Amino acid sequence: MKASIITILCLFILIGCTSEKPKEETTTPMATNSDWWKEGTLYQIYPQSFKDSDGDGFGDFRGIIEELDYLESLGITAVWMNPFFESPMVDNGYDVADYRAINPRYGTMADFEEMLNGMRDRGIKFVLDVVVNHSSDQHMWFQEARKSRDSQYRDYYHWWPAEKGEPPYRFSLFDPEGGWDYVEETDSYYLHTFAEQQPDLNWENPKLRQEVYDIMKFWAEKGVNGFRMDAFQFASKDITYPEFPEGYEKDFIKYHGLRPALHDYLKEMYKEVMEPYDVFAVAEGSGSTLQDAHDLVDADRKELQVAYHFEYVDMARTPAGYELSQFKKVFSKWDSAFAENGWVAIFLSNHDNARLVNRFGNPSPEFRTVSTQMLNTFLLSMRGTPYTYYGDELGMTNIDMPTIEEYVDIDAIGKYKSAMAKGEDMKEFMKVLNYSSRENARTPMQWDSTTNAGFTTGKPWKKVNPNYKELNVAAQDADPNSVLNHFRKMAHLRKGNLVLVYGAYDIILDDHEQIHAYTRIQGDEKLLVLLNFSDSDATANLPEGLMPGEILINNYASSPVDGDAVTLKPYQAVILKIN
Ligand code: GLC
Repeated sequence: MKASIITILCLFILIGCTSEKPKEETTTPMATNSDWWKEGTLYQIYPQSFKDSDGDGFGDFRGIIEELDYLESLGITAVWMNPFFESPMVDNGYDVADYRAINPRYGTMADFEEMLNGMRDRGIKFVLDVVVNHSSDQHMWFQEARKSRDSQYRDYYHWWPAEKGEPPYRFSLFDPEGGWDYVEETDSYYLHTFAEQQPDLNWENPKLRQEVYDIMKFWAEKGVNGFRMDAFQFASKDITYPEFPEGYEKDFIKYHGLRPALHDYLKEMYKEVMEPYDVFAVAEGSGSTLQDAHDLVDADRKELQVAYHFEYVDMARTPAGYELSQFKKVFSKWDSAFAENGWVAIFLSNHDNARLVNRFGNPSPEFRTVSTQMLNTFLLSMRGTPYTYYGDELGMTNIDMPTIEEYVDIDAIGKYKSAMAKGEDMKEFMKVLNYSSRENARTPMQWDSTTNAGFTTGKPWKKVNPNYKELNVAAQDADPNSVLNHFRKMAHLRKGNLVLVYGAYDIILDDHEQIHAYTRIQGDEKLLVLLNFSDSDATANLPEGLMPGEILINNYASSPVDGDAVTLKPYQAVILKIN
């Protein structure tokens, strides 16, 4: 099987980043750095799966409007929404056919504006997903470009004229056949890093770049507050198309991504869009090394504001799971590298990964609640901006999909085809896919115990997880000890304690195999976070001189501390003041 984006990202991060030494000490960045996108808690909505208002089985804006009070009740401060633009939906909207038009499935521009205003009224900002490494092959630019070599849109894409022979091999993340596809009308090949229906845009062309800035300005003028730049590290390429060494896909980003020119384009974008409209941007992917990530978000460089790297989510890719020691190491590495300069996103799940509790917690009925509470306590008590993926505030779980016929995702199907072609053990392949597929995280939001979890009155586009009868918003709303109410408390606690945003993060009990414990300190504000990552009791002694005080949040009724002795119940999560 050709390495997946995930494997590749995992490899490059391991190779690239381990060679750099994290700084020894963590310090406290000045609170004057304060910006809403640093202090906020971001909530990601996959619009297709959130709430359907018209019974067509697809989530829509009016459904989200119905749930604005729910969003406010969470205590989140920003929403990042996956793409909702006109699209043939080959990759669920990450193939955009018109960047200024709304896919009628989601509603109208008036609905969008009403939704945005409703969020604004509730103090919730909006982050738009901008998919401009590639467009859809149905976009007018590509439709015109493919027809004639003289088209004014020809240079909006990357072409290889067939008279030069076969183009040098390029890896594609979704297409087992590779990254070039032939177009008969103009006897040439076009490049696509993702599916063949997602031709890469040519960022080396200033006209194309201006088109993108105009699109961003269009949405900034509508009032969006930030941009998530999809797959952006691939935007700048070496268009002389040199031959890459065999097996280069293992180090894919190094070859395909973050060409030096990308920094120039980001600076240009900053000047054209970010600065005048006072919006922020986070790009998906942060290069191969800590230095790459720094270069993207160093405030003095005026490029991006937040680094969003994959090393966190790459820790749990297979049913074998992850080690707590590795988890601590990875988070410490990124925290210490950004302690003084730059800013990172804190996340363990999104629409490209299976569910949080299945990969990092324990989805069994006995531990699902406490382990998700523990993970949310972790995510919302770290330095950086926490991103919560819809449903993870409830502990929504993976769905069982053991056969390939049930999958609709282009990524899953592409990987399946590659595995078949390579003669892999398909039973094992399906086991891993069932655990790790991103389709797990795209099932409809579980609102209540009525038909289809209250998501739709029609036939849902994707099967609702059968556990919705017990696991849903209505049930958790009514239970003060639910995952949902714990999430709300945690979001509230973060809002009221900027030490959780800016304070120095220092691990204690470093070698403990079950407990992740750390302090968050800023001036006189001192907090201690105690998390049991295991399904059994965990004991430890606190370092001398560390005097635990008032408990601020606890997912069990019992206190875990007695003097300097700590006993945490399975997946217990506690934040205390330090006296
Ligand atoms: C990003 C998106 C993913 C999409 C891909 C192609 O990685 O997060 O969902 O499939 O880009 O646009």
